[in-house]
Amino acid sequence: MKILVSQDYQSLSQKACGFIEEEVNRNPASVLGLATGSTPLQTYHEMAEGHKTRAVDYHNISTINLDEYVGLGESDPQSYHFFMKEHLFDKVNINQARTYIPNGLADDLEEECSRYEQLIDQIGPPDLQILGIGQNGHIGFNEPRTSFKSETHIIKLAESTRKANARFFKSLEDVPKSAITMGIQSILKSKKILLLASGENKAEAIRSLLEDPPSDDVPASALCFHKNVTLLVDKEAYKKVEYLRGDELNHD
Ligand code: PGA
Repeated sequence: MKILVSQDYQSLSQKACGFIEEEVNRNPASVLGLATGSTPLQTYHEMAEGHKTRAVDYHNISTINLDEYVGLGESDPQSYHFFMKEHLFDKVNINQARTYIPNGLADDLEEECSRYEQLIDQIGPPDLQILGIGQNGHIGFNEPRTSFKSETHIIKLAESTRKANARFFKSLEDVPKSAITMGIQSILKSKKILLLASGENKAEAIRSLLEDPPSDDVPASALCFHKNVTLLVDKEAYKKVEYLRGDELNHD
């Protein structure tokens, strides 16, 4: 795993945007794997800026998102469909017919999982997958002890995840109890992976990812088995590792 440590969230987001723009400029028909949550927000903002000021062209790309809450439709402001439109899809010249997110309102959720996994194989796998990491080490919504061999599935959200995400809802009770998520095996199909982590509240997950042997207690540790992963981390999220390794880092 290649590790790039940034001074702060802003600099990390600019670097993440740089990776994405390089990919899209090199291959205008790229397939991007996208994530939601607070971490990629500034990256998406930088992409929108890049589209406006550097004429980065997203017209021919396709996107595949990691996950969606069960029970939330695309007009629900807390759904990941809504998030992606608001923060990226409506801000760049992407063809929204080629943006894919699991359907959290499907009548048959198991069938939706199989359909989505097939879609990943047909449209993708992503050339570049963007990932955040949960405080408990989850990637997508693959909570601790999800099998590394999992494909798209329904997951019961960990209470810690529901609490962490409650900030987006009126109350904790409003946070859905389950989600559809790409599995860990699905994520590992991606050709390149960019894992983003910012802030002190991710420092323990990053320590565990980099210092402990891979284990399903920390789903992100499955990334150790992938050949092309770059971890973009800021100083705060890296600080436990920096302390343990005694690195003298030159942050940019
Ligand atoms: P966050 O979430 O970016 O909102 O911290 C990341 C995640 O839970 O995967």
